[in-house]
Amino acid sequence: MSIAILYERSETDELGIKLTAREMGINLVYLPFHKVSIRADKSGYSFRSKGKDYSKIVKDVDVVLNRTQSKNRRLFAVHILEAFGKNVINSSYVEYVCFSKLRTLLHFWKAGIPLPKTVYVPCDAHEHGVNGREFHNEEDIADLMQQELGRDIVVKPDAGTHGKEVMLANTQDELLKVLQKTKSTILNPTGVLAQEFVPKWFYDLRIVIAKEHGRAPYCYPKALARAGFKDFRTNTYLGNMVFGVNLPPSIRDMAIKCGEAIGKGSKVWILALDAMLNIGEDKIVDDDYVRSEFEKLMLPFDAVKKVKRDRTKKEDFSTWNVKLEKAFQEYMNSEAYGNVTRIIEESMEKGKQNIMFHEANSCPEFWEQTRLVAKVNLAVTLLKCAKSVIGLEA
Ligand SMILES: Nc1ncnc2c1ncn2[C@@H]1O[C@H](COP(=O)(O)OP(=O)(O)OP(=O)(O)O)[C@@H](O)[C@H]1O
Ligand SMILES: [Mg+2]
Repeated sequence: MSIAILYERSETDELGIKLTAREMGINLVYLPFHKVSIRADKSGYSFRSKGKDYSKIVKDVDVVLNRTQSKNRRLFAVHILEAFGKNVINSSYVEYVCFSKLRTLLHFWKAGIPLPKTVYVPCDAHEHGVNGREFHNEEDIADLMQQELGRDIVVKPDAGTHGKEVMLANTQDELLKVLQKTKSTILNPTGVLAQEFVPKWFYDLRIVIAKEHGRAPYCYPKALARAGFKDFRTNTYLGNMVFGVNLPPSIRDMAIKCGEAIGKGSKVWILALDAMLNIGEDKIVDDDYVRSEFEKLMLPFDAVKKVKRDRTKKEDFSTWNVKLEKAFQEYMNSEAYGNVTRIIEESMEKGKQNIMFHEANSCPEFWEQTRLVAKVNLAVTLLKCAKSVIGLEA
């Protein structure tokens, strides 16, 4: 009876989960999900790499932490393992919903959760007819979108991550150009997804929620605010800064509702929600002041980024981890960090009724930012969730 971690490549989060498991006295077994063959037939199943047979390990495992990074591979992994009778965190239902931004938004909408006005047009910008003829649908799609959303429109791939191909158009011309760039790919199987542009000032939120088996869902009190003025996309992958902010209770309650909307029917789940506040012109200080505080944070934040890039991470994770903690601490100890954090918290308090949720991430990054800035160690949560379902039928 044991807990397994499954992934295609071990990165910081996976190293962090292994370190945390050791500290918690949990024997975590490893299952690869890249160069392996998984066979199913009337005699049962096997799970093998070229050099090793993992079949027995899979048979003995109770719960699998699915840390496969590719969304498509993660979805296959959970379906295979659930078919083999395993509990998987997160479940196939949760993965299926989170895979698609549209599916997630529809779950939110049905549960009465506020979301950015969203439009889906089930038609691709370029299509091919049976006789090889090419159709250009950009103008029709643009008209359909503008009819519902007005002028400022964000177009995004349904299954995208890291802010890739999330594009803003402020005019009809720009929208046509943006639509020309969209194509049907693995990130965006069919049609075009668009939203009203939410004037969120300079930050958005990443809120962590989780449910252990037998317990009520929980929203962590601190969230990550991802912030910057460089681009309308404020997610951290694009180099934006992060702040640990205390959430107003009403936002935490609504985040729990998001979890219930997606996780219903699953014994356990762990999710990171993306949310924005529609601040508009209701800013509590001038942009120039916030920009000047950001300037002061450049040096300590660059020091954090330098440690993140440090190649010694894989050879000596514990030592690298201490370096990372120190760099984040220095950044967070600065006066400017405290000032920006207060501005975000005050503006959230003032605008909390204008919160909108727009995505749920089922395998979020957590070791570097969520743990050190929002003080949530998701490795502990994951392992506790896994323990809570041990012994239960999948
Ligand atoms: N409707 C919108 N209005 C304003 N800004 C938006 C809107 N949608 C997305 N953004 C901005 O773009 C960023 C990326 O958007 P989104 O989260 O949808 O993409 P993603 O590919 O899932 O990125 P990530 O994996 O980092 O969450 C968000 O962090 C947000 O700042
Ligand atoms: Mg997102």
